Amino acid sequence: MVNHSLIFARAYEKEEGSKIPASSRPIFHLTPWIGWMNDPNGFSYYHGQYHMFYQYHPYDTEWNAMHWGHAVSHDLLHWTYLPAVLAPDSPYDSFGCFSGSAIELPDGQQLLMYTGVRKEGGAKGKDYQTQCIAVGDGLDYKKFKGNPVLGASDLPEGLSPHDFRDPKIWRTKDGGYRCVIGARRMDKRGVLLLYSSEDGFSWKFESILAENDGRFGLMWECPDFFPLDGKDVLFVSPQDMLPEGFEYHNGNGTVCQIGYFDEEAKRFIPEHHQAIDYGIDFYAPQTILTPDGRRVMIGWMQNWDTCKMTGYEERPWFGQMSLPRELSIRNGRLYQQPIRELSLYRSHKVEYKDVPVSELKTLPGIEGRSVEMDIRIRPENTEDPYLKFIIRFAQDDHYYSMLSFRPHESLLKIDRKFSGSRRAYIHQRRSQVAHENGEIHLRVILDRFSVEVFINDGEQVMTATILTDASAKGISFEADGRAVMDITKYSLFAEE
Ligand code: FRU
Repeated sequence: MVNHSLIFARAYEKEEGSKIPASSRPIFHLTPWIGWMNDPNGFSYYHGQYHMFYQYHPYDTEWNAMHWGHAVSHDLLHWTYLPAVLAPDSPYDSFGCFSGSAIELPDGQQLLMYTGVRKEGGAKGKDYQTQCIAVGDGLDYKKFKGNPVLGASDLPEGLSPHDFRDPKIWRTKDGGYRCVIGARRMDKRGVLLLYSSEDGFSWKFESILAENDGRFGLMWECPDFFPLDGKDVLFVSPQDMLPEGFEYHNGNGTVCQIGYFDEEAKRFIPEHHQAIDYGIDFYAPQTILTPDGRRVMIGWMQNWDTCKMTGYEERPWFGQMSLPRELSIRNGRLYQQPIRELSLYRSHKVEYKDVPVSELKTLPGIEGRSVEMDIRIRPENTEDPYLKFIIRFAQDDHYYSMLSFRPHESLLKIDRKFSGSRRAYIHQRRSQVAHENGEIHLRVILDRFSVEVFINDGEQVMTATILTDASAKGISFEADGRAVMDITKYSLFAEE
């Protein structure tokens, strides 16, 4: 029987986490100190550094009694582990300290708002989810004596106390607080609830901010709500999605809705919707505003539908956070760019222009597992367009992952079927992408165990984790037909 005290967790992660060599982790993507990690929590800039907390089970690489792990960073790319901050050690959160967010209080302390889960009726019983608070100084946090601060009696009629979670908190201009929380109706459809508070501790129901009309899955998890480029943006991660063309896939997905907040009705009015990520592994993102005014998002670079994927090698950690991505709205759509600080860690530039590609080709200097590639592809002759362009990476004699683009179908595919997975989970995803006569621009970022593809200057992003041993560093190109490519490659963090 595992001890669920914070002291125990802190001693365990320090002892065992410190044994994990840095060489077995990604270089610039955050992993748990040890064990299991899911959603980003309490992502914040507090007292001069970025804080990332995360859903955490230190004792195992499987989801179980949720703690909050903690790491800090000055640039969102180099992370330092700090001791875990929450353990499921109170009656109201004995089944887990689920996802939540963070805000600085006027007295300089930091408030964490999270979902406390308790079970009634034994192991097979039901969850009761309530909202709880802990206050601290960036290192140690004390659970609030008045917990839970929101429970079943604060839910509007007809909503379930079993699915009421993931508060995202923000400050209002008048110095008050608001938060949005995921909930669901008895028919399982997700609802987002808006609450307000004058002091961050005592909360009052305001309105139903948004509601799932049946288009986007069932329960809505991990909402985020923020202003961006003159609009209001609502993020949710729906469970049980049905596919919709190439926009949304089955299972757990991410949805971005862009619109505006109607102050009078206290309701969000959507005008546009799209997937946040079109790849395989991305879920439950949270955003912050950086001190210089950028809206930056980090998501869990994993997905519930694929997280049992295993390879040939056991790892003492499971779960990665995505690259931090700068958000903007262009032409009514969400755009994402890798955080600009990444370019500070470029080296070993290799550039080729007008490279003809048809048969399988490698290029001197283009290889590695911690690299950034800017690739522009076009047909050699627009009258005779190529049928398919393939980029293979993390390649050796046995394994590879790939991107393939078919201009006549406007489909970009990410495929890790041959990356070393021994399980028949989802290994491919296709996305409809914009291009003009087969001209497309891809920015591909590889870390040891992931790929993130920014398509057409960030109009779409496809993300996937890969398990292939980091020694597989090959990158190659091939086309069905005749294509031409410009490529600029950098090593990242001077690994290679
Ligand atoms: C989303 C989620 C949240 C919940 C947490 C539990 O990935 O299911 O809704 O708070 O994970 O770990």
